[in-house]
Amino acid sequence: MDILIFFSFLFSILHAAAAAAEPCSITMCGKNEVPIRFPFHQQGKQPQSCGYPGFYLGCDTQNMIHLKLPYSGDFFVRRINYLDQLIHLYDPDGCLPRRLLSFNLSGSPFVAVFHHNYTFLSCPTQVMRSRFTSTIGCLSNSTHSVLATSSIELAKRMASSSCRIITTVPIPVSWPAESDEDYTAELDADIQLTWHAPHCGECEEQGGTCGLKDKTSKEIDCFHLPKSSGSLTVFRIICLSISVPALSCAVGMAVYACCHDDNRHQARQNPREQNGPAAVSPQRMVGVTGLDESTIESFEKMVLGESRRIPGPNDGTCPICLSEYLSKDTIRCIPKCKHCFHAECIDEWLRMNTTCPVCRNKPSAGDTNSHIDPV
Ligand SMILES: *[C@@H]1O[C@H](CO)[C@@H](O)[C@H](O)[C@H]1NC(C)=O
Ligand SMILES: *[C@@H]1O[C@H](CO)[C@@H](O)[C@H](O)[C@H]1NC(C)=O
Ligand SMILES: *[C@@H]1O[C@H](CO)[C@@H](O)[C@H](O)[C@H]1NC(C)=O
Ligand SMILES: *[C@@H]1O[C@H](CO)[C@@H](O)[C@H](O)[C@H]1NC(C)=O
Repeated sequence: MDILIFFSFLFSILHAAAAAAEPCSITMCGKNEVPIRFPFHQQGKQPQSCGYPGFYLGCDTQNMIHLKLPYSGDFFVRRINYLDQLIHLYDPDGCLPRRLLSFNLSGSPFVAVFHHNYTFLSCPTQVMRSRFTSTIGCLSNSTHSVLATSSIELAKRMASSSCRIITTVPIPVSWPAESDEDYTAELDADIQLTWHAPHCGECEEQGGTCGLKDKTSKEIDCFHLPKSSGSLTVFRIICLSISVPALSCAVGMAVYACCHDDNRHQARQNPREQNGPAAVSPQRMVGVTGLDESTIESFEKMVLGESRRIPGPNDGTCPICLSEYLSKDTIRCIPKCKHCFHAECIDEWLRMNTTCPVCRNKPSAGDTNSHIDPV
């Protein structure tokens, strides 16, 4: 009998130790593909100490992840970028402009990446219908159309005719606003917010696991940083000793092929011109230098949502392949000029040419889109 008690005691200790070793693993909200981990934690499923205050996420029976903002209520979480510390939110009722009319981030750890003031106008529908396509459908009714603009001039002009100004509010946007736009239909895209504390981006970048130093403090630490072990080093040395000769051999062959090719080209009359200036050849031509892979990767990439809205000076088609963007398409945007393309189209281009195909702006390695701290 005593032995039985002893074993069950031992078992419970072991069990507790096993549970304590990995208390804050990644959790999922049912079939939702967004992983939930530090600084976020799933309410009810993980202990409080697995997350950071204000980063509690809920999970409903439809596998929707909820974030509750103290003064703005519940939002659904579309995506969390742990590396860049960004969270993408959308409205459960599908009318984000309505939520933006009274959006207030007070009391939450989240801040907008950039702000821009928008004025909402309500105009009689019969006046508007013929002239504008950018009415906000979910705020409009049969008699009144609601529009939003970031241009104060335009708002004033419209208010002096038949429209009424509803309100002017700062709205979180993901790009710095350069010029005022006319009416925008863009306000139903996801809200993108960032957070400054806890700062886990660097730890994430190094492949570590960010977490609280201990359960009582708010200090964070970076755990499980990958270390290169002895055998791994030996493996790398072997790889290197094989790949260096192989690489030099390949380079030699490429140079040979290139010179050979050039001779042939000189024999015929400059055949490159026949391709036309805009032809994008899918092969990487030796001697034509574009950007390196890591620079290209550093330019912001995003997956289009249902609204297929693209920030910046872009319309609904990819300027390279001229096909329309579809939701779930992956697009990449060039910093500074903010022209966007299908990621596969622009990546191919940038490997060969360092300029933006639309405006010839030259992006470089140091340029990034986000990470500019808001005020
Ligand atoms: C947000 O809400 C808080 C609390 O009600 C309030 O003090 C603050 O002024 C609000 N901010 C804005 C921009 O409305
Ligand atoms: C928005 O408007 C407020 C006052 O109406 C002003 O203080 C603020 O600077 C404006 N913000 C931007 C980004 O223009
Ligand atoms: C339409 O909305 C306006 C406010 O924008 C409101 O005054 C009006 O009563 C609404 N009309 C109907 C038919 O709901
Ligand atoms: C890159 O493309 C531009 C036209 O968009 C062209 O003028 C330039 O010569 C190209 N550069 C290279 C290195 O091919």
